[in-house]
Amino acid sequence: MTGIGIHDIELVTTHDVLDLAALAEVRGVDPAKYEIGLGQTRMSVPAADEDVVTMGATAAARLLERTGTEGIRSLLFATETGVDQSKSGGMFIHGLLGLPSAMRVAEVKQACYAGTVALQSALGVIARNPEAKVLVVMSDIAKYELGGSGEPTQGAGAIAMLVSANPALVEIEPETGMFSADVDDFWRPNDSTTAVVDGALSLKAYLDALTGSWDDYLANGGHAIEEIDRFLYHQPFTKMARKGHRELAKYAGTALSEDTLEPSFIYNRELGNTYGASIYSALTSLLHHDEELAGKRIGFFSYGSGSTGEYFTGVVRADYREHIYVEPIQTELAARNTITFEEYAELHETVLPSSEDVETPRVTKAPYRFAGIRGGARQYEATA
Ligand code: HMG
Repeated sequence: MTGIGIHDIELVTTHDVLDLAALAEVRGVDPAKYEIGLGQTRMSVPAADEDVVTMGATAAARLLERTGTEGIRSLLFATETGVDQSKSGGMFIHGLLGLPSAMRVAEVKQACYAGTVALQSALGVIARNPEAKVLVVMSDIAKYELGGSGEPTQGAGAIAMLVSANPALVEIEPETGMFSADVDDFWRPNDSTTAVVDGALSLKAYLDALTGSWDDYLANGGHAIEEIDRFLYHQPFTKMARKGHRELAKYAGTALSEDTLEPSFIYNRELGNTYGASIYSALTSLLHHDEELAGKRIGFFSYGSGSTGEYFTGVVRADYREHIYVEPIQTELAARNTITFEEYAELHETVLPSSEDVETPRVTKAPYRFAGIRGGARQYEATA
């Protein structure tokens, strides 16, 4: 076995998009605050028949078309936008895609950090059995109250990732640094569809977790900062990655270029916050836009409010460019339907109670849709 890591990756987003300039106009804010101050241009908005399951199923289906399902015995679904308190969102995906019954399916949660828990668990499964492959799906919808400070940092997207031995894209190295602290910086109560956030505290908690996990990474045999060629950060908005990068440089007492961050921003500027999928959307963007990654070491800072941070590294495979698929996400981003502020506000405020049978309108062009609620249970179907 020559290493374990990310063999294939696929990024998916929604049917609709809101231009942040349109939001700025309604909120009476200078559009430069969103574009430059936060580093965001647009945000993906789920249509009435889209949710974390439909996005995750689409991402997984596209990936499995290339890889097949042989050897996959685990599907780990990471989300903080769960559609049910008990049943894993991954179970709906398992059904929609007709995956084999000899499979472990479960959901993982710890705010935006959950995707990394799933990835690290997958690495552990494969360390025990190098023949095993794990399908990891991260899918989230970032939603804050209308008019609140977090509103321009909403977004939606999903990542599907195949984790295996001898990966084609990125080998994840074993050294890792952890930091956890019980902080009320951001959370979503069980009876709320929107997150509660203390913006200033959330920025501080993020940076504390960055330096804390960096210390632990070094204490556990991690590479010196000079040996890391590219830096990826959880990106609730792309400016946050810049803040993290500056903080890490100051903390490590070194100078770090910010130019190399740019290729990792291209998709997230357009998607908004995708919570658990965010750092892996940034990885996808880096793989698609930085042509000189072969053999380079990437530093990953994964963060989830509440709060946990993890620092780890991965090395990009020499022939990774033969295994990246740029076309689907770029076509999807360009084809999104731009909605008005009023359409966005209506979608935002629509909450379907599980106690009533309802059919959703047919909107999405994705292969799977959320068809509505029947007998209290969510109904999903293929669109074709
Ligand atoms: P705010 O109060 O609206 O904005 O909240 P601000 O006044 O701090 O301004 C933001 C930036 O825009 C500043 O830049 C301003 O100077 C600049 P900075 O000083 O920070 O570099 N600015 C302008 N720039 C150009 N032209 C202008 C202009 N005006 C101002 N005219 C805040 C910002 C991020 C707090 C808010 O959007 C928020 O609450 N977001 C949600 C929370 C969040 O994303 N926190 C990030 C860390 S926590 C995290 O990442 C976890 C999370 O993903 C959840 C999870 O783990 O599940 C959120």
